[in-house]
This record gives sequence, structure tokens and C-alpha cells, in this order.
Amino acid sequence: MMKTGTRQPALAFDAGFITGVDEIDDQHRNLVSLANEAALVLARDPTESQVRHLVQELLSYAIYHFRTEETLMREYGYSDTDAEAAARHIDRHRRFAARVVAVQEALDRHEAVDGAALVAYLTEWIREHILGTDKLLAAFILACRSERDGEPPNEGVTPA
Ligand SMILES: [Fe+2]
Repeated sequence: MMKTGTRQPALAFDAGFITGVDEIDDQHRNLVSLANEAALVLARDPTESQVRHLVQELLSYAIYHFRTEETLMREYGYSDTDAEAAARHIDRHRRFAARVVAVQEALDRHEAVDGAALVAYLTEWIREHILGTDKLLAAFILACRSERDGEPPNEGVTPA
């Protein structure tokens, strides 16, 4: 059912986004909030400095979040288990950051930023990334954690 009287967020954080790794989920909630705030600001004919500010905030938070995930990857040896998935995941993070940096560079040149296109990119990227790439990583982390907690070392090395 459509909500009336309230504005639909550009991106709704629903149960489907939960990866099961708490620190990742908490950061994803913040990232989704930031994207929604960005969507609101961009829809209201913002000044260049408002756009600059929100883009900077998004970029800083995204980089902080990517660092958290990449640290977890190293901690759990993700690349040792699945080098291709780990490399692809890190590459996705880099591409996202590069896309947002490109917006900053456009702002530096005082070019108009297509707010709708930016919101579409952010919301689609975040949705796809969480549902696909991050869930793969989370499943790997959760499997490592349950192995760590549930089994004595050097036992139960049977593949899942
Ligand atoms: Fe990620």
C-alpha cells in the first residue's frame, strides 16, 4: 500500500538488506540514511555548496564503511578462500568512490550536477551491492564465526 502524506524514501532499508553481520548492517543503515538525505536535498534545488557538502559526507562515510568491510575481509582471509570474489568486491568499492569523486570534480569545475541521475546511481548501487556482493561476504564471515565458535580447532574441515 502507498503511504500518503509522507515522502517515500529514495531507498528503503528493509529486512532483505540484513546481512547478519551487525557492524556491517549498522553501517549500511547509516549509508542508506545518507543516500536518502542526499535525495531529499537534491530534490530541493540545492546550492552548489549544499551539493558539495552532501557529496563529501557520502564519500567520507562510504570510504569509512568500505574500510570496515575490507578489514573484515583481511581478518577472515576472504581472498585466501575466494580471491576472485574478494578482488571483485574491492573493485566495486573503488568504482563507487571514483564515481563520487567524479561528481566532486564536476563541482570543482562548477558544472551542473544531474541530481536525479546521481540519486538513481546511489540508490541502485547501494541496493545491488548490499543484496549481492555484501551478502556473499557476510555469509563467508558468518560461516567463519560459527566455525570458530562451534567447533574445536583443526576439526570439522568438511566443506559446507
Ligand atoms: Fe561492500
